[in-house]
Amino acid sequence: MKFFADTAELDDIKELAATGLLDGVTTNPSLIAKSGRDFMEVTKEICDIVDGPVSAEVVALDHETMMKEAEVLRKIADNVCIKVPLTIDGLKTCKSLTSDGTMVNVTLCFSANQALLAAKAGASFISPFVGRHDDNGFNGMELIEDIRLVYDNYEYGTEILVASVRHVIHVLESAKIGADVMTAPPKVIQQLFNHTLTDKGIEGFLKDWKSTGQSILA
Ligand code: G3P
Repeated sequence: MKFFADTAELDDIKELAATGLLDGVTTNPSLIAKSGRDFMEVTKEICDIVDGPVSAEVVALDHETMMKEAEVLRKIADNVCIKVPLTIDGLKTCKSLTSDGTMVNVTLCFSANQALLAAKAGASFISPFVGRHDDNGFNGMELIEDIRLVYDNYEYGTEILVASVRHVIHVLESAKIGADVMTAPPKVIQQLFNHTLTDKGIEGFLKDWKSTGQSILA
């Protein structure tokens, strides 16, 4: 499963990229606002750090203006992936862009039927929002299972990008279901490394090693 960071914070992206485990980045207008940075500038800087897809979202609601915005965004770098909302105009835009070889991430997906439409429109990625479903009393991971089933039935190439990930269990469940990608806030990705027994184990090994009086590098 690919790991994308859901953020526009450069320091976090650099730190995660240094692990070699970061496959891409997703941003959205809220994350850009939170960063306080200029959209074009920060997107360019992210694209320079990460080799994989970097999602940059259009904000227009009509197809014609979405296409104009996409035109500007895709000039930022070769690894820009245009993010469009799951609406009729968004999917029209998706169809036009992917027919032209541009990567498209269809966002704000909340049903398997919507995911089916995005696949038919040739989306490179579909972003179902699991956390926001959970917030509303629906198990978001069931949506991922449904989309996996539908996509496998017809061998659609659209990658399932689990979004609105809030905790490490979402990551584990995504991997068990066979999602292609998950995008999570840096904090959640950092938490994946942690286990109290790992820390305890290191502590014990170091204590015993010290008692031998030896050194590997001596
Ligand atoms: O980029 C979309 C996304 O992951 C949103 O997450 O936590 O705002 O629901 P959240």
